[in-house]
Amino acid sequence: MNNSTINTEQGHWILAKMGKRVLRPGGKELTEKLIQGLRISSDDSIVEFAPGLGYTASVLLSKHPKKYIGVEINEEAALNLTHKLNGMSQIAVLNCSAAHTGLSDACSDKVVGEAMLTMQADHRKSEIIREAFRILKNGGQYGIHELGLKPDDIGDDIKHTIQQSLAQTIKVNARPLTKQEWCTLLIKEGFAISEIYESPMHLLRASRVISDEGIFRTLKIGFNILTHHRARKRIVEMRKVFEKYESQMVAYAIIARKP
Ligand SMILES: C[S@@+](CC[C@H](N)C(=O)[O-])C[C@H]1O[C@@H](n2cnc3c(N)ncnc32)[C@H](O)[C@@H]1O
Repeated sequence: MNNSTINTEQGHWILAKMGKRVLRPGGKELTEKLIQGLRISSDDSIVEFAPGLGYTASVLLSKHPKKYIGVEINEEAALNLTHKLNGMSQIAVLNCSAAHTGLSDACSDKVVGEAMLTMQADHRKSEIIREAFRILKNGGQYGIHELGLKPDDIGDDIKHTIQQSLAQTIKVNARPLTKQEWCTLLIKEGFAISEIYESPMHLLRASRVISDEGIFRTLKIGFNILTHHRARKRIVEMRKVFEKYESQMVAYAIIARKP
């Protein structure tokens, strides 16, 4: 990562380059709840939207599903994941948008997507949810884990301010939604809500980093941040925003069912 790109690079890739592997707002713990709720079995064909560095992919694969397909828009991430999972016949990684996977109708039992809808404009969120609905079999489940806002009646002004602060610091047009708004989007595309889990948005808190990454990796991340001045500046800015809006920002994991 060179100094000229670091000021414009999306926040999650800066964290990834510092060694962070868990990039979702509710951390490993919320991912585990989501995956437990999805009750993955060896009969399941799974599609994961935006596998990124592949942490959830490895959790899903530990359940020995019949098939796993990752759909990742970032070419480098898709290529790295392909290498990482190389040699397993029931696995494929597609380098394309989750809005247009090219997969056939009703080909999957479970679709999972974490920290990827938040960064889409509202019409694009709906497009991706519609695609999940299309590729799921009847009775199939869609699990999401995204950045949320609370309470449900949060004012438009503060919502707008948070969105702007996130856009400025993460360099992503992050548009977190309230629990009610996330549910409404899913219901509008035909899903029924089965489960909702909630967790504080503590992505950059030391205790969460240790719980997500372990002590050794946390020390390595800390060292990398200390020795990369510009990355440190960006991460400190992100952390300040997360702390400032701590009482409004939250992580939601939702399991929705295709009737
Ligand atoms: C914040 S990272 C989250 C990665 C991973 N899901 C995790 O939770 O650690 C966002 C990921 O979404 C991917 N992404 C963004 N828009 C996408 C789209 N339309 N289709 C597929 N992947 C997308 C990015 O390339 C990136 O890997």
